[in-house]
Amino acid sequence: MKELIAKYIEEIRAAKIDGIEDKAAAVEQFRVRFLGRKGIMNELFEQFKKAPGEQKKELGIALNQLKTAAQEKVEEFKNFVEQSVELNDTHDLTLPSDFADRGSRHVLSVTMNEIADIFARIGFTIEDGPEIEDDYHVFTALNFAPDHPARDMQDTFFVEKDPNVNKPTDVLLRTHTSGVQVRVMERQKPPIRVIMPGRVFRNEAISARAHCIFHQVEGLYIDKKVSFTDLKQTLLYFAKEMFGPDTQIRLRPSYFPFTEPSAEMDISCNICGGKGCNICKGTGWLEILGCGMVDPNVLEASGIDSKEYSGFAFGMGVERMAMLKYQIRDLRLYFENDLRFLHQFDSLV
Ligand code: PHE
Repeated sequence: MKELIAKYIEEIRAAKIDGIEDKAAAVEQFRVRFLGRKGIMNELFEQFKKAPGEQKKELGIALNQLKTAAQEKVEEFKNFVEQSVELNDTHDLTLPSDFADRGSRHVLSVTMNEIADIFARIGFTIEDGPEIEDDYHVFTALNFAPDHPARDMQDTFFVEKDPNVNKPTDVLLRTHTSGVQVRVMERQKPPIRVIMPGRVFRNEAISARAHCIFHQVEGLYIDKKVSFTDLKQTLLYFAKEMFGPDTQIRLRPSYFPFTEPSAEMDISCNICGGKGCNICKGTGWLEILGCGMVDPNVLEASGIDSKEYSGFAFGMGVERMAMLKYQIRDLRLYFENDLRFLHQFDSLV
């Protein structure tokens, strides 16, 4: 019986269906012969039952080898048949092949990476914070008064409502990345030099100029003797790296609860070079970010001694940066995933 099994295994290993006309039938015939109900395998098992006890171990192993060999061969034949059917019936091998569609980065990712890269070159590292935030980190610790309008349902998406009083709870989608400033100050001691990219949410009607989801890059620098001059030079460096070496900046007084003094920064229009065009609405300037010196109240709220340390912060909209850099006219394009739009940025990395 041992020799018989060895002979079958050899036969199976050598079996071929290449030259046979009706391959599917040949495979089935092969399967039935070895593995069918009245096939060789079962017949051998019957004999095996009657074999003397001391031979059983060896024969059992050999039988299993035979079974595996037969099963593997059937699989191999089946694959072969499938492939040859496909090739013969549906493929014209003379046709040129399709081009695989290569993926590429979204223009917002490219822009965010570029901003991060520019600040990394002057020692800023990247920090992250949660998109689902609490009132404390997004508003209170940033010196927002309890009745500040930004807390209004108009602007903020609240995640939960208190079922008893039907009033918003403390859990909300962050309306700006400034909350990450607070989290960083809570977990790091100065000197702090970080940028914080991320997605933010505001309850706004969607149009070409506004969206309920967008991205910001926040910056925070805290150390001894940080001054407004440092802020200005850092942002001038950024503007030149981002929009070209001839770019000029202008700071206009503004207001944010968490910075004092606060400013908004404009860059000279990168389209007309400052002469005035329809992009800058004839002014020669484009607004790109908000910034200021971190309010001492904000430092103190996060346990940083405002007598010893000072700092600056800034926050910019990534969609706006990309709009200015690549002349994108409608915010909605970023989120529609229209390939005709996305493919225009394939060459950016
Ligand atoms: N958080 C502000 C906004 O969303 C931007 C900002 C950040 C302003 C940091 C000053 C300092 O408009």
